[in-house]
Amino acid sequence: MASGETPRFLQAIELGIGAWQWGDKVIWNYGRGYAEPDVRSAFDIAINQGVTFIDTAEIYGMGQSERLVGKFIRATEQPTLVATKYFPFPWRMGRKSVISALKRSLERLGLDSVALYQVHWPPVLGSIETLLDGMADAVEMGLTRAVGVSNFDRNQMMAAYSALARRGLALGSNQLEYHLLDRRIEKNGLLDRCKELGVRVIAYSPLGQGLLTGKYSPKNPPPGLRARQYGPLLGKIGPLIKLMTEIGQDVGGKTPAQVALNWCICKGTLPIPGAKTAEQAEANAASSGWRLTEEQIAALDEASDKITR
Ligand SMILES: NC(=O)c1ccc[n+]([C@@H]2O[C@H](COP(=O)([O-])OP(=O)(O)OC[C@H]3O[C@@H](n4cnc5c(N)ncnc54)[C@H](OP(=O)(O)O)[C@@H]3O)[C@@H](O)[C@H]2O)c1
Repeated sequence: MASGETPRFLQAIELGIGAWQWGDKVIWNYGRGYAEPDVRSAFDIAINQGVTFIDTAEIYGMGQSERLVGKFIRATEQPTLVATKYFPFPWRMGRKSVISALKRSLERLGLDSVALYQVHWPPVLGSIETLLDGMADAVEMGLTRAVGVSNFDRNQMMAAYSALARRGLALGSNQLEYHLLDRRIEKNGLLDRCKELGVRVIAYSPLGQGLLTGKYSPKNPPPGLRARQYGPLLGKIGPLIKLMTEIGQDVGGKTPAQVALNWCICKGTLPIPGAKTAEQAEANAASSGWRLTEEQIAALDEASDKITR
């Protein structure tokens, strides 16, 4: 790939699916209320609806998410695009660590290569350049088609971008938290910078971890750790959810969740909502292929500003 050329396939993807829920017990309570048959149906329905970009990570469920994704992929004829991630633990910051971790991920996935390999978080110790050299090695070895980063701020992303450019490669993506309850990347200029560079912004937690579906309230908080994290926000989101419900009706009967995901698409990002069940995956798949109007986006921005400021 020539220097600066963007891995084009990432630009063409409108919507993906996140697989953190598939095997994770800490935040998502996998095994309680939903289990393998549910997430298998979520996978099947997503793929059948054309949502073929699947985001996982070696740390999700300590490898269980990758194992499940691999199992489901083997059982389908449909082509898929798998993105996974390298976690930069302080004890494995070398270039060769990237390759050995990717080989272990590929083993769990049952694949020869992935579509996208991402550095999950910027390293606390060690150098971004060294890690990105390892990522470039992975491309040259045919183990991944493209390289991405995640949770990288502007300076960290530029360091990654330059390290890859020295190897004649483009940075494909930066995976960042982005939704109607968290617009930091829009306000601090990172989203625009990514667009200028042709770096695809993959929007994680695009449903605000369930808050933007409208099903949670102060009286009915989300279960587990999410309640503690989002408790203070729950009392404030009512007017935004009401507006999302009204807009959803105006665009042909869409739900607040579908409006939330389409808003991410309209802002030029690639949302990857997590789904625990077939129903959730099917509903989320119907959030692409149409567009909110400029006026609707402006109204949603205004309502979200009142909460996040
Ligand atoms: N790079 C990173 O550091 C990072 C961080 C976080 C996430 N991610 C990635 O981004 C993906 C998505 O983010 P996320 O999982 O944090 O949050 P999210 O997509 O905002 O929310 C997912 C949760 O919302 C609920 N939900 C989903 N679809 C629904 C629907 N149609 N109707 C009602 N409820 C629905 C489900 O939980 P309940 O039913 O329990 O409410 C589901 O587990 C993850 O799977 C992961 O791949 C990456």
